[in-house]
Amino acid sequence: MQIATTVAEAKHITRAWKREGQTIGLVPTMGYLHEGHASLIERARRENDRVVVSVFLNPIQFAPTEDLDRYPRDFDRDCKLCEEIGADLVFHPDPAEMYHDPHAYVNIDLLSDTMDGAARPIHFKGVCTVVSKLFNITQPDNAYFGQKDAQQLAIVKKFVEDLNFDVKVNGCPIVREPDGLAKSSRNTYLSPEERAAAPVLFRAVQRGREIIAPNMKASELEAQMKAVLAEEPLADTEYVTAVDALTMQPVETIDRNVLVAMAVRIGTTRLIDNFSYELPRA
Ligand code: PAF
Repeated sequence: MQIATTVAEAKHITRAWKREGQTIGLVPTMGYLHEGHASLIERARRENDRVVVSVFLNPIQFAPTEDLDRYPRDFDRDCKLCEEIGADLVFHPDPAEMYHDPHAYVNIDLLSDTMDGAARPIHFKGVCTVVSKLFNITQPDNAYFGQKDAQQLAIVKKFVEDLNFDVKVNGCPIVREPDGLAKSSRNTYLSPEERAAAPVLFRAVQRGREIIAPNMKASELEAQMKAVLAEEPLADTEYVTAVDALTMQPVETIDRNVLVAMAVRIGTTRLIDNFSYELPRA
């Protein structure tokens, strides 16, 4: 497995693979890899000749008040995991290698004014910019993203289509702990008491899955899920929203395919979870 820290090195390696006609799968990550990332890398391994994992804690997707400084890091452990799964290249640039001030951004207004986009106004601009750069640097045929960040996945699919990137964006299922908590690098912030409280998000997802039905009022669905979250004293709900699966805009009635997503603070840790619902065909 090779490790590239400069854009030039990563381009050199991936361009050589392309010239040989090999397919490339990219798994973009911010490091501190867990089983969720492992499932993406494993799928990329199965579906491509070459696998690139980017490990880059992207500063421009964090607001100054957010957790960039305390975000967990362990590059040696990340490399070990990538090597075990069979990645061919880890791309691990410095922020200074990726961004020269002032630099251009890729922005998408569509799909990013609700949920996490509303709560974190610069977040998706930073995500779209770094993902575009990673696509241009590594030229993947396939890219893999977790369904846990469902709004991110929808936004990346949209800009790839709108800006004609030649890459297939693949969404992969949420990987959970045995008690249902979605795997996340941010779970490491939780104290033992908070960790015990955190599966309440999954219980709310389960309640939502049980009760959702065609033509149900979204407000009723959201209220019942919020009631589950309210049973946990350590949980502070930021939003629970049913949105159109493609536009990410709130729906009043469950009359189409929807994403039902939530953000909840457990202590100072902001956790997200969601499920997708496909309207049964008549
Ligand atoms: O989902 C993430 O870890 C990040 O948002 C991504 C896609 C790697 C961009 O920095």
